[in-house]
Amino acid sequence: MHFRSNRFLSRRGFLAVAAGVAMSRPMRSARASAVDERTLRAAPGQARLTGADSAPTPTWAYNGTVPGPVLRLRQGQPVRITVENSLAEDTTVHWHGIRLPNAMDGVPGLTQPPIAPGTSFTYEFTPPDAGTFWYHPHADGLVQLGRGLAGALIVEEAELVAFDRDLIWLLQDWRLAADGRIAGGFGSAMDASMSGRVGNLVTVNGSASADQSVGAGERIRLRLANAALARMMALRFEGHRPVILAIDGQPCEPHEPEDSRLVLAPAMRVDIVIDMLGEPGGRYRVIDDFYDGLAYTLATLAYDKAPPLRAHPLDAPAALPRNPLPEPDLANAVRQEIVLQGGMMGGGKLAGVGGMMSGMMGMNMKGMAMPGMNGTPAWAINGVSMTGDGHAGMAPQFTLRRGVTCHLTIRNETAWWHPMHVHGFSLSVLSRNGSPVPHRQWQDTVLLAPKDTVECAFVADNPGDWMLHCHVADHQMAGLMTVFRVT
Ligand code: C2O
Ligand code: CU
Ligand code: CU
Repeated sequence: MHFRSNRFLSRRGFLAVAAGVAMSRPMRSARASAVDERTLRAAPGQARLTGADSAPTPTWAYNGTVPGPVLRLRQGQPVRITVENSLAEDTTVHWHGIRLPNAMDGVPGLTQPPIAPGTSFTYEFTPPDAGTFWYHPHADGLVQLGRGLAGALIVEEAELVAFDRDLIWLLQDWRLAADGRIAGGFGSAMDASMSGRVGNLVTVNGSASADQSVGAGERIRLRLANAALARMMALRFEGHRPVILAIDGQPCEPHEPEDSRLVLAPAMRVDIVIDMLGEPGGRYRVIDDFYDGLAYTLATLAYDKAPPLRAHPLDAPAALPRNPLPEPDLANAVRQEIVLQGGMMGGGKLAGVGGMMSGMMGMNMKGMAMPGMNGTPAWAINGVSMTGDGHAGMAPQFTLRRGVTCHLTIRNETAWWHPMHVHGFSLSVLSRNGSPVPHRQWQDTVLLAPKDTVECAFVADNPGDWMLHCHVADHQMAGLMTVFRVT
């Protein structure tokens, strides 16, 4: 159920936003035309990742904080965000998952010139969809994201949907050296050709194994965003039953995750609703156990001691209001196929390094020439490796006439996981390995397990050159990236 009146508001007064609903609603349309102005400054900074008294880790940060500030925008309200670059290298900001004009997409060399050190660039767009998104650099992405540049972007529903708490957890994965500094060696051949730069410390909103305070009886919306370079996550909520409300910002039919395990690949977002049916004063762990034998506590739900907010459990949660996504016309769709190739032990042919790939399986890798070494591309899409951030000059993989429906098949021939991300569109996910995907899911980041084939569809309603790439940053940099055009 949605809480649309004060009758349901928490007596603890958590809902500062909702508390103002009745008053602010008439003002909202007046405000809708006003431009929301924000500034983000990228600069070196510091963060205490393992607690207030831990040694500071030198990072790169937006507005001095890791992660960057949560940008809360409103659906349909124009925003102008000025990005100032105080780093020693070029940067840009990409608004991951937002359907916006191509010139605002933040891809250097493709949609805009890079923002040089000491200069700024102003992004202007009007978010059409409500939901959970995020922002990050799209220049030297492996290093800039790996040093901490990322933030959550929430687009609030035009019609407020209230919960007792609306929380965002931006998850980051750090590879720290023994001295607490970020380890160097970004883009090693090993990382590039295997699972990517998986780190050794995961933080929630910038701190490791943090407590999340909650109250018994509350109904909480928790927005999860995986901003890691490469780490896959599978979250379990001890003693609780999360219900998925949205994936990659787009509402779906509310449903419980398979095996009560929320799988979050890099760049994916999932909005869940959880009823806090635990004991006052109780502590419940949130565990990530994606990698066998490497489970750890990501965070703890720490209940305060107050008696339950509600005497009776609430009804099953209702679906969030749908976003205005264009409906694919499958009967008249144009078909395209994207084949993912390469990586260690892939058994697939990789253009240019095909010979090197064969016969590698089971061999000792030490001292061997590997794909990904010395800039050799480790990965390819349809036989072509687009590497680094050098997007200029790449011929589009395919071109779509504006307005046409594209029925896109993504086939993973490799032995690795790939969260495939498309800029500018949200994909209606039709099937996985031949089985229909339930709960009507729209995603901008589609996870493929080794050897998976996923079919999806989207309406090519937004003109421009758009990126399509794996969001494991090392894979992207080492060739798992392409561009398509809508004219
Ligand atoms: Cu979130 Cu091209 O990326
Ligand atoms: Cu994106
Ligand atoms: Cu990948």
